[in-house]
Amino acid sequence: MSGARPYILIAGCGYVGQRLADRLRERYEITALVRSNDKAAALERQGLKTLVIDLDRVRAGASLPQRLDQEAIVYLAPPPAAGESDLRLDRFLHLAIVPPKAFVYMSTTGVYGDAGGELVDESTPVMPLTERARRRVSAEEMTRVWCHERRVRRVVLRVPGIYGPERLPLERLRKSEPVVRPEDAGISNRIHVDDLVTACEAAIENKEARGVYNVTDGNSISSTTFMDMVADLAGLPRPPRVSMEEAQLTFSPERLSFLNESRRVGNDRMLKHLGVKLRYADLTAGVRASLKS
Ligand SMILES: NC(=O)c1ccc[n+]([C@@H]2O[C@H](COP(=O)([O-])OP(=O)(O)OC[C@H]3O[C@@H](n4cnc5c(N)ncnc54)[C@H](OP(=O)(O)O)[C@@H]3O)[C@@H](O)[C@H]2O)c1
Repeated sequence: MSGARPYILIAGCGYVGQRLADRLRERYEITALVRSNDKAAALERQGLKTLVIDLDRVRAGASLPQRLDQEAIVYLAPPPAAGESDLRLDRFLHLAIVPPKAFVYMSTTGVYGDAGGELVDESTPVMPLTERARRRVSAEEMTRVWCHERRVRRVVLRVPGIYGPERLPLERLRKSEPVVRPEDAGISNRIHVDDLVTACEAAIENKEARGVYNVTDGNSISSTTFMDMVADLAGLPRPPRVSMEEAQLTFSPERLSFLNESRRVGNDRMLKHLGVKLRYADLTAGVRASLKS
């Protein structure tokens, strides 16, 4: 049953997963796990093998391909929208009977909580402030235990805001949605999707890679500065400003939760140990490239 190329399962094959599959498909046999039949049909049209499992309600008899030549599982599905732990991941791990050589889990830098604008790295203790971030911490821990018990090499990628083609806040700019004024806005980080895919590739192929890596482009700026930059490069008006007090009254709780956290996320370990060479360390170049495609 094993083909000539090693096998990789991408669990949650959306924006990042599709690009990762495109990057890997010549060298690996890929199966993309998604939730919906529509999404699977779209991926099949692009020549990808798919598996439809809704991890929120796994049917009796559902199973993953039991491949012994499994190079990696790359788990990219987000946790569910409620609860303290990631039951979606829990159900997935129960289905994964044959352990892969490597398990790559995509987490978020939200696990660090608020650092008051200071630098955090992988040795900084996690301090999740929201339920969403607590679900991520629980998911990271679940993968640690599961991989430890099975002697699987585990890589956790902590990812900040992902941007790229079709993932720029152009609609919000066109609608003139307000942002908090620069003096109230905290510091955050981003990564271009192509560089994130490079980090996933390195996590699979660099056999020394294990543990946690922050995956950011090294530019720590506020969301307001980022919105202004995108507006300028896209030829759109800069967004109107509101004070933090006004934002508290009008922004959604999720948006506010991002604004309540401020941190600079270091990427030294990703560069030196994971071996990622960033294509878009220059954020302006990354946004320009995203606007072009
Ligand atoms: N957006 C950001 O800025 C950001 C920042 C940090 C981390 N992340 C995380 O990075 C990961 C990849 O992001 P992305 O932008 O590629 O996400 P995405 O485009 O939303 O893709 C998520 C994938 O997960 C699948 N999925 C969702 N719920 C599922 C379920 N119940 N059962 C099975 N599959 C399910 C979706 O399947 P369907 O397509 O069939 O629904 C989709 O293929 C996610 O975990 C995301 O939370 C994102």
